[in-house]
Amino acid sequence: MTDETRALLRTLPSLAGEPPALDLSALPEDPLDLFLAWLGEAVHAGVPEPHAMTLSTVSDDGVDARVLLLKDVDERGWAFASERSSAKGVQLAARPAAALTFWWQPLARSVRVRGPVVEAPPEESLADLRARPLEAQQRASPEDWTLWRVEASHVEFWQGSRDRRHVRVRYERAAGAGGHWTLAT
Ligand SMILES: Cc1cc2nc3c(=O)[nH]c(=O)nc-3n(C[C@H](O)[C@H](O)[C@H](O)COP(=O)(O)O)c2cc1C
Repeated sequence: MTDETRALLRTLPSLAGEPPALDLSALPEDPLDLFLAWLGEAVHAGVPEPHAMTLSTVSDDGVDARVLLLKDVDERGWAFASERSSAKGVQLAARPAAALTFWWQPLARSVRVRGPVVEAPPEESLADLRARPLEAQQRASPEDWTLWRVEASHVEFWQGSRDRRHVRVRYERAAGAGGHWTLAT
């Protein structure tokens, strides 16, 4: 890296967003509820493409990551879709676990989700494909298009603060989907 690049990077602002209020004494028991609240606040605040997230997977030579769209989120998990034959599809078949990272800059908020990944039933993958724009449908093969869900075992909510008193709320569950969530300090 040149001195110029290093200097430029240090002039760029960070955590310039303005987070909404977060009541730490009234956190929901289930991180899904907090995620839905934060997603709603991101949409309301006009965060561009708030459903875009980084999906990290385990590859045979280390790790891999790329940006995808969140397709659904409910008690079954965080859903995303792609081709089974893609690098991520091959990686997930070999090692069905992943991490998702959201960054909502205008709110100085980030959410991390990780856990095992399960493939949705074929009819759900097909429904996802059918809901895509026609041009995208024509490019994909129905047998290849796959919906997966991250069954979260860990969910972290992070909210930046200009005075550097950042807030971090971490949920964990030990026994897979259906298990009881605990708040880690
Ligand atoms: C904002 C954004 C959204 C994207 N959404 C998807 C998506 O939902 N599904 C998908 O397969 N690729 C999506 N992509 C493309 C992926 O980032 C990636 O390039 C592609 O899936 C191939 O990844 P892989 O080679 O690691 O499997 C998106 C890219 C961007 C920038």
